[in-house]
Amino acid sequence: MTKELFQPSAAITSKAHITAAQYDALYQRSISDPDGFWGDMADRITWFKKPTKIKNTSFNAPVSIKWYEDGVLNAAYNCIDRHLPARANQTALIWEGDNPNESKHITYAQLKDEVSKLANALKARGVKKGDRVTIYMPMVPEATYAMLACARIGAVHSVVFGGFSPDSLKDRILDCDSNIVITADEGLRGGKKVPLKKNTDEALKSCPDVSTVIVLKRTGGDVAWNAKRDVWWHDIVDTQSTDCPCEEMNAEDPLFILYTSGSTGKPKGVLHTTGGYMVYTSLTHEWVFDYQPGEVYWCTADVGWVTGHSYIVYGPLANGATSLIFEGVPNYPDFSRFWQVVDKHKVNIFYTAPTAIRALLREGDEWVKKTSRSTLRILGSVGEPINHEAWMWYNAVVGEGRCPIVDTWWQTETGGHMITPLPGAVATKPGSATKPFFGVAPEIVDGEGHIMNGPCEGNLCIADAWPGMMRTVFRDHARFEQTYFSTFKGKYFTGDGCRRDDDGYYWITGRVDDVINVSGHRFGTAEIESAINEHDCVAESAVVGFPHDLKGQGIYAYVILNTGREPSEEMKKEIVQVVRKIIGPIATPDVIQWVSGLPKTRSGKIMRRILRKVAAGEIDSLGDTSTLADPAVVDELLKNRQTPT
Ligand code: PRX
Repeated sequence: MTKELFQPSAAITSKAHITAAQYDALYQRSISDPDGFWGDMADRITWFKKPTKIKNTSFNAPVSIKWYEDGVLNAAYNCIDRHLPARANQTALIWEGDNPNESKHITYAQLKDEVSKLANALKARGVKKGDRVTIYMPMVPEATYAMLACARIGAVHSVVFGGFSPDSLKDRILDCDSNIVITADEGLRGGKKVPLKKNTDEALKSCPDVSTVIVLKRTGGDVAWNAKRDVWWHDIVDTQSTDCPCEEMNAEDPLFILYTSGSTGKPKGVLHTTGGYMVYTSLTHEWVFDYQPGEVYWCTADVGWVTGHSYIVYGPLANGATSLIFEGVPNYPDFSRFWQVVDKHKVNIFYTAPTAIRALLREGDEWVKKTSRSTLRILGSVGEPINHEAWMWYNAVVGEGRCPIVDTWWQTETGGHMITPLPGAVATKPGSATKPFFGVAPEIVDGEGHIMNGPCEGNLCIADAWPGMMRTVFRDHARFEQTYFSTFKGKYFTGDGCRRDDDGYYWITGRVDDVINVSGHRFGTAEIESAINEHDCVAESAVVGFPHDLKGQGIYAYVILNTGREPSEEMKKEIVQVVRKIIGPIATPDVIQWVSGLPKTRSGKIMRRILRKVAAGEIDSLGDTSTLADPAVVDELLKNRQTPT
């Protein structure tokens, strides 16, 4: 399969931003002369004061990442104001509602007015530069206004995905010490209501410092009201002035915090700053999607994830693009929805996740073929490895063989694309993220950290800094160093496994740490275990991922009950409910297996390798079990193995 090569057509290469002839030389320059390359790239955004210092970074302790450190700019200015002379009446955002009869266009001029009014309302509520604002919103234009209003006044947003539970919301509010929350009465997805205000009320029972909740009326559903704390969006925003100056921000001033799961502890606050992030997201958006002026670009992600931050909001808007925001889901009202939206809004570039592609693939080609999709030019994939079958279907059925697929590998931490094809420059192979983006130096190392050359498989590291990378874990720089730079000294460790083939193409093989990727959503196994353990009857648990046809990975939980507690189907349901309550429905375990013991070494460490094999049904290749404290545990694991459905 590594030989299967798909070349871009002349229609793509003839007008591509980057061609095959340019890629190698430009890549070499970006690695050998980062100051020169990124100094030039800085010119793509508007600075109030141009930076004279470009790169000042160290991956050795003390880890310190600074880009463009004496530059001054504002992210909202770059996404809005600077476009007004040429694009005031161009559509900045197309909003497609959950209901197919609801959509609207927002021009750059309107975006400026809406963002400025909200920014003024935030200031009137006392929000200042550096304050953290929590955003817990459905996929409506106001979610984007909220992010940009924060950026405009120098506040730091922390967007929490609407599918997270009140508990998860509470943890994130407390961790970043935020005293204002922007939410909506209810969200709407696939015809179902999501009780955002109710969840917020629940979360805030444990957040006494939150003094303001701004509530957008989305559905008009009934909500409880705390008159001391809650204000309607329309009451405080509509009367504000449409003038709000952009705060002058240093390049290294924080732009946002976004929580993500790792292999240990609670989700961490990944902190991104302003200058490097804006240069990196705008450059990758333009070159990786080969965005051409006037095109309609649609990323199906939610703004609650990094993909939404970088490739719905900041990258596209910095480029003056038309970015589509979708409130709904791929299968509502039916399985044609994505392609109907493509036709309705004449989408040219479409970016989604393998899990969605797999879900649509299995419904058959007719749902796709009854739509035109003639405007589509480029297709993108993100979030998890894309399997061969899904890639081939995306290419042949959705793209009719004429649209290059950019399989973009990156992470919340990296801010933007890292390993990805460029449509006009790199021939694709199904399932490979292909080649590094400019300025990205991947290294594959073995378990001891030795660099491997040529074709090989090992742990994926990045050798040097790039402008879009995270700067720290919010208020925990030690955790930043420990998580990313201590496994392999002096390198950024991604947590992913990776193979490099004879042609120098990279193939991401999935996480090699205790992180699982369910439908492109990241969870630490420890995080799910600690939720399960909250159930009164649970003594101990161990969670692993297993291959799942639709979700990529599913969640398999091994649970030991307290003495005297009887396993039952009812008990399983209760445990599932506890996880849904503590983390959110997106972390629902697929399988629960009762066990009386876990496979542990004599020093008490759980041998997860065995648990993964049992969950995956690879029972003939369990490997060496002789170091287990009690090898009999394995017999019980196998005997009571649950077949995932
Ligand atoms: O394992 C990789 C997988 O998703 C992880 C990052 O997850 P998150 O921070 O939530 O960001 C997702 C969106 C950028 C990575 O460590 N991943 C992401 N994109 C790909 C991928 N795995 C394979 N191929 C990809 N294109």
